[in-house]
Amino acid sequence: MKAGIVGASGYVGGELLRLLANHGDVEVTVATSNKHKDEKVARIHPDLYGLTDLKFTGRSIFDLLDDLDVVFLAVPHGTSINYVPQLMESGVRIVDMSADFRLRDPDKYPVWYGFEHPYPDLIKKFVYGMPELHREELKNARYIAVPGCIASSSIYSIAPFASLDLDNNVITVDAKVGSSGSGAELDESKVFSERYNSVRAYKPAGHRHTPEIEQEIKYATGRDVKIALSAHSVNMVRGILTTSSIFAKTDEIHGWGLLREFYSGEKFVRLIMDKKSNFKYPDPKIVVGSNFVDLGFAIDRYINRIVSFGAIDNMIKGASGNAIQSMNIMYGFNESEGLTAPSLFPV
Ligand SMILES: NC(=O)c1ccc[n+]([C@@H]2O[C@H](COP(=O)([O-])OP(=O)(O)OC[C@H]3O[C@@H](n4cnc5c(N)ncnc54)[C@H](OP(=O)(O)O)[C@@H]3O)[C@@H](O)[C@H]2O)c1
Repeated sequence: MKAGIVGASGYVGGELLRLLANHGDVEVTVATSNKHKDEKVARIHPDLYGLTDLKFTGRSIFDLLDDLDVVFLAVPHGTSINYVPQLMESGVRIVDMSADFRLRDPDKYPVWYGFEHPYPDLIKKFVYGMPELHREELKNARYIAVPGCIASSSIYSIAPFASLDLDNNVITVDAKVGSSGSGAELDESKVFSERYNSVRAYKPAGHRHTPEIEQEIKYATGRDVKIALSAHSVNMVRGILTTSSIFAKTDEIHGWGLLREFYSGEKFVRLIMDKKSNFKYPDPKIVVGSNFVDLGFAIDRYINRIVSFGAIDNMIKGASGNAIQSMNIMYGFNESEGLTAPSLFPV
């Protein structure tokens, strides 16, 4: 199968190129970039030296569709909507990395993204690209909306507990995010001397992934919860740790039982439960480079709180990994194809 990537010079585009270089059923034949047209892909993504001779093209993806089966849109939110209608008309399948088709309710877009959704009827044609929750729908999908990175870690770690008898329907999420989470686009806040060694609350309230998390917890459990999300950028390049407080009474045995039952048979979900390890709880340090999501929790008996942790590589399980896993399901390929590399340790 032949794939094209729009926005291939960005971080997520680079990860798609890297992972698909090792995919037995898919070849990337088109990588678009406006800034880097006609340059070798490996100049911008140097990890790909020796793995690809591909050059970025500045041509419109619409002129290149004859030879493509699937197009990945690795572009900023608000940009995919300019591509999707015409891509759909062409018959090509779409995997969208942006937020443009993630929210089922189009009325959420003006509130959280600041624009009226111009194609509300097209939203329902997309399946949310989280295999562990949407596998059956993905089998019949043609269009996939890949979840956001903080949203992914939060949903994975909250969903198994959200069906408990909650004391409070507000669930707090503290997210710690590596610098690659904000993409390769330059801005002053990313200058090394400003960014290095800082723990910066970059979005303490009103984070755009909030409605996505609420939507998927409702999908998984039928529950209307409110998510109170605060996001911090920390001194890592890759990785996210979310620490969520779910106010409900349970014990360790029941908690592990809930996680095991919810993720039974899932190849990319690991439960971290070795109290003698240096890594007693999920830590991005031990997932980076892999498609794993690591989950674990602690019980706070003082106020009946489950402190639930999720750790992912933001660019893999939080983006390109779930994109490829979902695409594999859509096409009936082996679900793990291209995704079996273990994480790096130590990093
Ligand atoms: N970074 C993460 O961890 C992460 C995780 C999950 C989801 N996402 C989502 O994935 C998407 C890509 O993120 P990223 O981190 O890779 O961002 P990025 O590094 O800034 O890359 C964005 C790419 O989009 C291209 N682009 C920008 N404006 C465009 C336009 N108007 N038309 C066509 N191409 C355009 C740019 O390439 P040229 O200027 O060279 O054309 C660039 O290569 C975003 O929607 C992001 O929210 C990111």
